[in-house]
Amino acid sequence: MRAYDIIYKKREGQKLSRAEIEFLIKGYVEGDIPDYQISAWAMAVYFQSMDAEETADLTMIMAESGDMIDLSEIKGKKVDKHSTGGVGDTTTLILAPLVASAGIPVAKMSGRGLGHTGGTIDKLHSIVNFNTSLSRDRFFDNVNQHGIAVVGQSGNLTPADKKLYALRDVTATVESIPLIASSIMSKKIAGGADAILLDVKTGSGAFMKDLTEAKKLAKAMVAIGKEIGRDTAAYISDMSQPLGYAVGNALEVKEAIEVLKGRGPEDLTELCLELGAAMLELADQSEDHAEAKELLRKKLSSGEALEKFKEMISAQEGNPAVIDDYSLFATAEKVVEIKAQEDGYIATLNALEVGLAAMLLGAGRENKDSEIDLAVGVELKKKVSDQVKKGDTLALLHVNDQKNLAQARAKVLAAYSYSKNEVENKKLIYEKIT
Ligand code: URA
Ligand code: CA
Repeated sequence: MRAYDIIYKKREGQKLSRAEIEFLIKGYVEGDIPDYQISAWAMAVYFQSMDAEETADLTMIMAESGDMIDLSEIKGKKVDKHSTGGVGDTTTLILAPLVASAGIPVAKMSGRGLGHTGGTIDKLHSIVNFNTSLSRDRFFDNVNQHGIAVVGQSGNLTPADKKLYALRDVTATVESIPLIASSIMSKKIAGGADAILLDVKTGSGAFMKDLTEAKKLAKAMVAIGKEIGRDTAAYISDMSQPLGYAVGNALEVKEAIEVLKGRGPEDLTELCLELGAAMLELADQSEDHAEAKELLRKKLSSGEALEKFKEMISAQEGNPAVIDDYSLFATAEKVVEIKAQEDGYIATLNALEVGLAAMLLGAGRENKDSEIDLAVGVELKKKVSDQVKKGDTLALLHVNDQKNLAQARAKVLAAYSYSKNEVENKKLIYEKIT
């Protein structure tokens, strides 16, 4: 087999066999095939695409390129949830204890944040001493004993994806549906999921800005799930404005706790109930979506979900007193108010601009080695469809280092647009694909 012939075949729009894809990817990881040939192949895929079978083959080859986590020691069907990334997306912190309180084992490996989107592991570190690097044995013990553990990705997971993603990033080949779909799904499969729930975000703050593209990505990932025999469902949800009101690590943990106390923002609560119900269905714990949602609503109102969160914090060495005493979280030195410039209704609230503002304040990473400030971020007071008068508070900036304050302030101001007429609220969930 020659890399040249495989690149040629894909360039001509022909279907590649599993053996051909494997030859390329294995050869690349092992250093036998150079970057320039894989770049050419990725560009050919960008233009000619791949069918469901090729995409599933690529997914499994990438998943099997490194460690495959075996979760079989944990009883029950393991459902993993993945979000394609957004601004103020605190769902994992809520969903994990919520579904665990309903009896679904949660053995979750999460990532750190990069760029304008936050990561669950960073957020958890705003709980003092919370340990996200448990040993393998302790991770399993915690899930078996408490029904829940959330840790950082460790070990050698999907090295083929790491290498290919870095190459795509510098060769303008990231935006290919089969390449994105296989990249995401390979990581979930290597992580040991029996079933996968995807939350594909669309809108300004999302990776897929456009609804049509988001749908294509969701369908491609559900198709991979079918090909490889893992139950997979996907939601397409709105990320044109941030989810909830808090954007920033400690701010979002407090917001998650508020949801678990049954008094969090409506959009964030609703999305968590919807996704949680879908997880119960995927775990074969429920056949009726409305019933599952009702059950989870009760887990919030009874305090059981909150209690599960507390249990997880203790089991991972954090201080559970943070739940009742928010002063135990890091707080910023200064709070700066941003005021409405006009009378009217909020027409748009650009999630990307808000995410970038939070990052400028230090809540996110520019590159993988950047330090982040857990206390800082943006606390929104007004969102789309809210009526405002000139001078009303739109948002609060939580600030430590004032170096980028003027720029962050300008971004948040620019994120808002106004209408003289009433504005309808944005749809939260566009579609569910199964
Ligand atoms: N996220 C991923 O994990 N992979 C991609 O290719 C794009 C976004
Ligand atoms: Ca939020």
